[in-house]
Amino acid sequence: MKISARARSIPPSVVFELGARVSELKRAGENVVSLGAGQPDFPSPREAVEAAQAFLESGQVGYTPASGIPELRAAAAELVSRVAGCSYEPSQVVVTSGAKEALALAIASACDPGEEVLLPAPGWLSYAPMCLAVDAVPVPVAGDPERGFRWNPDDLAAAITPATRALVVNSPSNPTGLVYTRDELAAIAQVCIDHDLLLISDEIYWPFVYEGRFSSPAALPGMAERTVVINGLSKSHSMTGWRIGFLAAPEDMAKAAGSLKSHLTSNAATPSQHAALAALAAGDAHAEMMTVAFTRRRQLALDALAAMPDVHLEAPGGAFYVFPRVDAYYGKHASGSIQGSVELSAALLEHVRLAVVPGAAFGEDRCVRLSIAAADEVLADGLERMASFLASLRQGAPAGPSC
Ligand SMILES: Cc1ncc(COP(=O)(O)O)c(C=O)c1O
Repeated sequence: MKISARARSIPPSVVFELGARVSELKRAGENVVSLGAGQPDFPSPREAVEAAQAFLESGQVGYTPASGIPELRAAAAELVSRVAGCSYEPSQVVVTSGAKEALALAIASACDPGEEVLLPAPGWLSYAPMCLAVDAVPVPVAGDPERGFRWNPDDLAAAITPATRALVVNSPSNPTGLVYTRDELAAIAQVCIDHDLLLISDEIYWPFVYEGRFSSPAALPGMAERTVVINGLSKSHSMTGWRIGFLAAPEDMAKAAGSLKSHLTSNAATPSQHAALAALAAGDAHAEMMTVAFTRRRQLALDALAAMPDVHLEAPGGAFYVFPRVDAYYGKHASGSIQGSVELSAALLEHVRLAVVPGAAFGEDRCVRLSIAAADEVLADGLERMASFLASLRQGAPAGPSC
């Protein structure tokens, strides 16, 4: 069958592929430690589960308005306003099927074919495919590895062409954990203002900040009218599978995104909207509880990685990942088969049954990404497996069972 060039240009998500491989191994009875998935290991808030159950009991599971039930749009407007630090009306909010759909709608609503979107590099792996899906052009702009992969505003300005339409900021960042300060965001915002660009601010990891504090570019002078804020409950409320996200934008952009959504997917799942409403009404306690756990696990990971020779890691300021540099180990496998992060990740899974995501998937082949959103003992086990495998590489032969 003929597949469009557009679809052929987009490979499947490495994270989902890895997840499928881990499930397959676990089904086969293998003892696998997965530090691959980007989702909290905590259950969803009880309030959310009970609200969904009660709603399902009512049996009235019909369509809702495409942009979401009014109560949830209002609650989301309140959340985004509080987090971002500026004021959004419910009419400026679209409730989406996860933050992913919010991002895709923002890009589709903003970009005409051929227009360019500046993306963080390293950065989350779905931004570029989302651009390609609407014939926009992803333009990765490398952050400074000596400064936690922060963008240098001059590099950003140098990447701008007459076709540049938007840029994406993701703070706290997946995979690097970078958290921009307000002043750093102000410098990026100035580039947007000078070049008349839209800023898409992916704030999905907002509660998880360990150093400094969260800031949103939307709150900066002159930015609310050129910013689309992306948020949702997947990470903050441990609700990845419910698929509830939001975008908040100037009214005309929110209307356009809502209109697109009404044709593409209709409303976000109705029971999930009711669950999300209850989760938001319950406040931030759930996120605060997880932040305490992630703070402890981050330290556990930092200590373990610091003890691994030739592994370099800048402590992540936020999110729930560590992104160590491991390239000193490339070329070290006895068979010479580990040449980069893809081969190293594959070897970790093969030899010590540890799943991590290759940095190449995020545009930085020198690193691998480990999620710290796993129980302390699981994380400790995973880090021990990594240490023992790297030790075996230093000694010239990979350790542990081979499959
Ligand atoms: C930076 C970033 N943005 C957006 C998303 C998508 O979130 P959701 O599961 O709500 O679609 C993720 C998920 O991993 C992410 O890491």
